[in-house]
Amino acid sequence: MRSWNDPAPAGAPPMTDSADPVEGADRLAAARAAAVEHGVGHYARHIFLCIGPDCCTPEEGQAAWSALKSACSKLNKRPGAPPIYRTKVGCLRICTDGPTAVVYPEGTWYAGLDPEGLQQVIDQDLADGVAVEPLVIGRNPLPRESRADAPGSGT
Ligand code: FES
Repeated sequence: MRSWNDPAPAGAPPMTDSADPVEGADRLAAARAAAVEHGVGHYARHIFLCIGPDCCTPEEGQAAWSALKSACSKLNKRPGAPPIYRTKVGCLRICTDGPTAVVYPEGTWYAGLDPEGLQQVIDQDLADGVAVEPLVIGRNPLPRESRADAPGSGT
């Protein structure tokens, strides 16, 4: 199996294909099992939190991540609450006034998530689906329909 660090020979298949179909199927089966284990397929909300290093220091990012993990764990224990997934990322390409984050399905982008700001996003957006307007820096909901007619799509 080729790794991401190996140079791709001309005409090589995409990395998701294995030269050995059984090995490839086994790898995907393990990944699917991990997805099930992590509740993929049941989430109603997903927050991506940038933990720096350019929008905030790694220490600030790590502290925000710890707070977010703890908060999501509590929120996900609420009876009947829509499950929330959280993911830390290395950069959302805003790179200023962080930590930054984006919450789906609405696609609400945030910056300035100091401890108080992040708590507001947790209490208001993650818990109740209401954006924290003073911290919103953009909106980008992702529609399910085709974007072939979107500006810049080449059509
Ligand atoms: S480092 Fe956080 S947005 Fe780029």
